Amino acid sequence: MVSRGLTYNILSGLEISVTLVSICSAMVSKTHSQLIFLFLFLLSSLNIASSSYTHNVANFDKWISFNVKKHEERKNDPGPDLKLRQAESNKVTITVSQDGSGHFKTISEALNSIPPRNTRRVIVSISPGVYREKVMIPRTMAFVTLSGNAGNPLTITGNDTASASGRNGSPLGTFQSATVAVDGSYFVAINIKFENSAPHEIGRRGEQGVALRISGTKAAFYNCSFSGAQDTLYDHKGLHFFNNCYIQGSVDFIFGSARSLYQNCYLNSTTKKVASITAQKRTNSSLEGGFSFKNCTVTGSGHVYLGRAWGDYSRVVFSYTYMDNLVLPKGWSDWGHQNRDSRVYYGEYMCSGPGANFAGRVPWARVLNDEEAKPFIGTQFIEGDTWLIDTW
Ligand SMILES: *[C@@H]1O[C@H](CO)[C@@H](O)[C@H](O)[C@H]1NC(C)=O
Ligand SMILES: *[C@@H]1O[C@H](CO)[C@@H](O)[C@H](O)[C@H]1NC(C)=O
Ligand SMILES: *[C@@H]1O[C@H](CO)[C@@H](O)[C@H](O)[C@H]1NC(C)=O
Ligand SMILES: *[C@@H]1O[C@H](CO)[C@@H](O)[C@H](O)[C@H]1NC(C)=O
Ligand SMILES: *[C@@H]1O[C@H](CO)[C@@H](O)[C@H](O)[C@H]1NC(C)=O
Repeated sequence: MVSRGLTYNILSGLEISVTLVSICSAMVSKTHSQLIFLFLFLLSSLNIASSSYTHNVANFDKWISFNVKKHEERKNDPGPDLKLRQAESNKVTITVSQDGSGHFKTISEALNSIPPRNTRRVIVSISPGVYREKVMIPRTMAFVTLSGNAGNPLTITGNDTASASGRNGSPLGTFQSATVAVDGSYFVAINIKFENSAPHEIGRRGEQGVALRISGTKAAFYNCSFSGAQDTLYDHKGLHFFNNCYIQGSVDFIFGSARSLYQNCYLNSTTKKVASITAQKRTNSSLEGGFSFKNCTVTGSGHVYLGRAWGDYSRVVFSYTYMDNLVLPKGWSDWGHQNRDSRVYYGEYMCSGPGANFAGRVPWARVLNDEEAKPFIGTQFIEGDTWLIDTW
C-alpha cells in the first residue's frame, strides 16, 4: 500500500512540475501573444496541482529533483510546438447534424470544407446519431478535432474487412479496412464511438476489421470508444494519448508501431477462445514505439495474453492495471519466435487482480522497479509536455 501511494504521488507531481518548469522558462523568452497560450497552460496545470498538492508534499524533493534533471536533458528542445500554438490561438468550429440543422449533414462533407494545408484548429462538432461513413483525414489536414456530445456520443460505423473488395476488385487489406483513418497530425477526438461491426469467426481468414487507424502524430483521444472484433484499433505510428477510452475486440485488438499512452482505459476482450490483447510492432531496438497502459482495466471473455510480439523488440508495459482472470498465467507470447524472448520488453508494475499474478509468467516478462517504470507511466512517455494540452 505504502509504495503504491508513493509512486502515484511522484507521478502526478511530475506532470505538474514539467509544465511549470517549461512555463517559467518560456515566460522569459517568449513574445506577448504566446503568453496568452501559456496562461491557458498554467490554468490547466493549477487545476491538476490543487487536487494532488496535499498528497505530494512528502515527496516534493524527490519529484523536483527528478524534473530538474529531466528539464536539463531537454533544455535544447524547442518547447511547445509553435505551429500548434498558432493553430490553437485561431480556432474555428463547424457543425454536423443529420437533421440539417448544422453546417453539414455528414462528417465527410465537413472535412471536405477544410482547406488543404490548414493551419487553424478546426473543431468539427457533431450531433448525436449513427454515421455510416468511411472517414479519412489526409496527411495534409492537421489540427482537426472531432467532438461529440458527452451525454450522447455519436457513432461512426462501418463493416469493411481485410478481405472485402476495394475499388479495383482486389482485397482492401487490414490498413484500408478502417472505418476512420487519420493521417493528419494534431488530431483530437472527444466523445466519439468508433466502430467496425464486421463479425469475427474463428478460423476464417481476412476478417480483420479496423474501427480506427491513427497514423498522424501528436493525437489525443478523450472519452472515446473503439469497438470491433479482430484488429479494432490500429495504433499505427506517431505519439498518441488515449484517456478514459473503452476498447473492445477479439484478436490483437490494439496493434501497431506507435508510441502511445493509454490512461484510465477499459479493455474488453470478446474472444471466445485464446487471443492477445495487443500486438505491438517494433522490429528494431532503436525504434521508439511502445504501448504503455496505466490505470486500465483488462476484462471480458476467453483467455488472453497481454501482448504478443510483432517483431523482435515489441514493447508493452502495464502499470496500476486491474487484470481479470481471463489473463493467461503466462501473460505474454513470443508468437512462436524464441529469439524474441531476450529482445522484447514486456513489463508490469503495480498491477492488481487475479490476472496479475506473476507466479506463472513467462521468465522473460519483467516486474519493473520504480526506476524502470518511470519512463512509461506518465505523459513523458509520449513527450506530452511539448504538445499535449488540456485546453481543447
Ligand atoms: C455491411 O453493412 C452493409 C450496410 O448496412 C450491409 O448491407 C452489408 O450486408 C454488411 N456486410 C457484411 C459483410 O456484414
Ligand atoms: C469525459 O467524461 C468525463 C466523465 O466521465 C467528463 O467529466 C469529462 O469532462 C469528459 N471529457 C471531455 C473532454 O469531454
Ligand atoms: C483510474 O481510472 C479510474 C477509471 O477510469 C478513474 O476513476 C480513476 O480516477 C483513475 N485513477 C487515477 C489515479 O487516475
Ligand atoms: C465486454 O464484452 C462482453 C462480451 O465478451 C460483453 O458481454 C460485455 O457487455 C462487455 N462489457 C462492457 C462493459 O461493455
Ligand atoms: C536498427 O536500425 C539501425 C538504423 O537503421 C541499424 O543501423 C541497425 O543495424 C538496426 N538494428 C537491428 C538489430 O536490426
